[in-house]
Amino acid sequence: MTASGTFGYGTEYSHLFDIQKLGAIVCKGTTLEPREGNPQPRVAETACGVLNSIGLQNIGVKALIEEKAPLWASWRVPVIVNIAGETVDDYSQLAGELDGVAGVSAIEVNISCPNIRAGGAEFGASPKSAARVTTAVKAATSLPILVKLTPNTSDIAEVAMAVAEAGADAISLINTLKGIAIDVTKRRPLLGSISGGLSGPAIKPVALYMVYEVAGAVEVPVIGCGGITTASDAIEFIMAGASAIQVGTASFTNPRAPLDVLEGIEKFMKKEGIEDITKLIGIARL
Ligand SMILES: Cc1cc2nc3c(=O)[nH]c(=O)nc-3n(C[C@H](O)[C@H](O)[C@H](O)COP(=O)(O)O)c2cc1C
Repeated sequence: MTASGTFGYGTEYSHLFDIQKLGAIVCKGTTLEPREGNPQPRVAETACGVLNSIGLQNIGVKALIEEKAPLWASWRVPVIVNIAGETVDDYSQLAGELDGVAGVSAIEVNISCPNIRAGGAEFGASPKSAARVTTAVKAATSLPILVKLTPNTSDIAEVAMAVAEAGADAISLINTLKGIAIDVTKRRPLLGSISGGLSGPAIKPVALYMVYEVAGAVEVPVIGCGGITTASDAIEFIMAGASAIQVGTASFTNPRAPLDVLEGIEKFMKKEGIEDITKLIGIARL
């Protein structure tokens, strides 16, 4: 799969390679109303990664349903809509509006968003608020729901167990890690909104650790994400217990990265004489 926010609505990449060959496309985080996002600068390169503070710039759910979904409905590749809100009601309303829309195959719930009714703490930081969002979304839609966890919490396995209990059909992880960069000449934070989210190869060992932890704690499928750039990276996540993977930041340097990773996995399987990928899921777990 592609990781949300790094592959637009799929259409932006469709002239570069055959996106229909991918397992799924996860679109940019979608909110009830259109958003312009955070002030510039919003992206800064770091050693082995990227800091971003896009601030959920998106066209809003109404435009998504009217302008994007009809095209997705004609695609072979399933499209998963990533949703984001500031209140539990936002999430359930979004899920309700997307329910039954042709071209939308599933919902990925981004719980790395600040809960404005609870002092701005991320929904995903606590098992309780993460479960509350999951329950609300599940009640509002018949679509399968993936809940996407934040690494910015003290015990990610506890959050995972809570959202699985609340009805998540799958769990994706991880979202970005909080970070800051300083412009030493200006003596100011480099990003317009001060802090941002770190992604890319720099976070891979953290993501892999969290996938290992979560896969050992829940029965639902786990989707690994964080710094996956090559097929070998992806296979590490699968061996740690992921049933599927997402490619994000790697697409910025190589737009074909999601398909390269997929083809690389197939090559590895052929070389190793493995016919069924499920044989590899969690194989490295002790
Ligand atoms: C520019 C950018 C925008 C992102 N936007 C979203 C988003 O809208 N919703 C979301 O759940 N995750 C978003 N993410 C997080 C990614 O989907 C992914 O979880 C994270 O970047 C780690 O994977 P990676 O290292 O392969 O990029 C974004 C990441 C980047 C770099």
